Amino acid sequence: MTMREKRESRPSIWHDLLERKIGRRALLAGTAAAGLAGVLPLDLQTAEAAATAVANGAPRAPQGAKLPFTPIAPTSADAIVLPKGYRYDLLAHWGHAMGDGSTFGYNADYTGFFPMDLLQKGVDKNAVHRGFLRADLSSTDGLLVVNHEYVNPMFVSGYTAGSKSAQQMITEQDAVGMSVIRVTRSKDGRWFFDQGDTTHNRRLTARTPMLLTGPAAGIDGGPTAIGTLGNCSGGQTPWGTALSCEENFQDYPVAAPEGYGWDPAIYGKRHYGWVVELDPFDKNSTPRKHTALGRFRHENVAIRVGGDGTVVAYMGDDKADSCVYKFVADRKLTNLADRGGNMAILESGKLYAADFGSGKWILLDFATQAALRDAKDSKGAALFASQADVLADARAAALVLRATPVDRPEDIEINPIDGSVFIALTNNTGHGNFHGQIVRLAEKDGNPAASAFEWSIFAVGGSQSGFSSPDNLLFDGEGNLWMVTDISSSRVGQGIYSFQANNGLFFFRTSGPDAGIAYQFASGPVEAELTGPTWTPDGQTMFLAVQHPGEESKSPTALTSTWPLGGNEIPRSAVIAITGFPKKK
Ligand code: FEO
Ligand code: CA
Ligand code: CA
Repeated sequence: MTMREKRESRPSIWHDLLERKIGRRALLAGTAAAGLAGVLPLDLQTAEAAATAVANGAPRAPQGAKLPFTPIAPTSADAIVLPKGYRYDLLAHWGHAMGDGSTFGYNADYTGFFPMDLLQKGVDKNAVHRGFLRADLSSTDGLLVVNHEYVNPMFVSGYTAGSKSAQQMITEQDAVGMSVIRVTRSKDGRWFFDQGDTTHNRRLTARTPMLLTGPAAGIDGGPTAIGTLGNCSGGQTPWGTALSCEENFQDYPVAAPEGYGWDPAIYGKRHYGWVVELDPFDKNSTPRKHTALGRFRHENVAIRVGGDGTVVAYMGDDKADSCVYKFVADRKLTNLADRGGNMAILESGKLYAADFGSGKWILLDFATQAALRDAKDSKGAALFASQADVLADARAAALVLRATPVDRPEDIEINPIDGSVFIALTNNTGHGNFHGQIVRLAEKDGNPAASAFEWSIFAVGGSQSGFSSPDNLLFDGEGNLWMVTDISSSRVGQGIYSFQANNGLFFFRTSGPDAGIAYQFASGPVEAELTGPTWTPDGQTMFLAVQHPGEESKSPTALTSTWPLGGNEIPRSAVIAITGFPKKK
């Protein structure tokens, strides 16, 4: 750690808790080995395995059962690099025609696959790792829902400085949001985007009409809202719809060039920062923003259904020193065939935030929590006047109630083997946490609606573990964890991040002798972040987004990446389909 980094390290409730689990030196140096030995009782095996972690810079030799691939070495190539025997098809990149005059958006993030026969055959409410898809649904024909998180104005609208024109704003607004695209796999195994399927292909932008639901539906002139933005990761529901998470909504009404400079009378409303539910099969449906799930910088939603049909959703607030949330729906999932009725499940329920000190979920409820009714701002005015206010600033409410601020909670996913909840904490340089951790949470008695939990550290980023800044997570049916990294474009490949070269995709076993050890599966183009990994029901295709290649380019003629088109072409975010995964027995 440099002197400057030492000065940046401020005290933190979360770091005190981490120190108790793994020790400060181990935490800051990313030395999972020594630290994890103190983690009990969830992952003793993980601790032992991590103690054998090998040096960085070379592919790791498998320590346990045979891996499904030969790990690759870190690389700074301006390419998608995959293990031998795997290939990818480029499905759609920014600017691709959607068939109806609209074009595929910028900076693809979340992807979710919806087989064309889903509505006929139904879902599997226990298949948390497959987006609740039944294993016998089509793995060759479906709708891919893709988020478009934000734009680079220099490439998208040509804006570089000064005031932004109305047309530049519209161009940018039409490049964010979501896409629904029809994708098919041909007999020779290649994947294609069917640009002619105008029945299904759909763009949803920052100008598409939407509806707010739940306790804060009327906020700032609701329930109608204009468009969606900041669409980061998301999730699938066990009733066959897509969820899209509005993350960095705060930048849009801020004047350019500091912000995007979009009309504050619209984009300054508290109509952004919610979870959006979309029916990908109905092009005429109105997307709904569910206020019962709270408003913060939503990363993703991971749903689990309890034995009695209770629907629980785990969510992270991707901001330094922010909280992990759990929503428990009022309405149970009892009739899988009632898709229309089930679409109301996320409209009402209880919102909790995690206290990692006591291992308790704290209820964010204005009626029963006196601390929320008594909370005042710095001028002595009441912070909240209603439950709608609590939901609209869930972070402030969680912190008033002493939920634990942690180090940027990004993706959360559920292990299909034991129901434990994995949480990626990307990093928090303000506290000297440069490489992040993956935390594992186990609900009391395995009950997703429980009010108490235990937690432990599953993996610690750093040079000795070979990865930094964990972000999106994905489980496979064997309980293996796939994880993409999000080292920021301005730092990737440099200084303390050089050991990893470009951002990548890593594989971990979660049990056995090498549980918690990272094996690299893929590497992304220069300055790109790989995002949104998703399986087809047969586990033979992984969809993946390639976000912001060449993000540090200083001009359209001084490019740091030309992926995927090469030559002198400007870089373009895209979604790809990776194949070559072994057939399931
Ligand atoms: Fe948009 Fe938290 O990544
Ligand atoms: Ca993310
Ligand atoms: Ca991220």
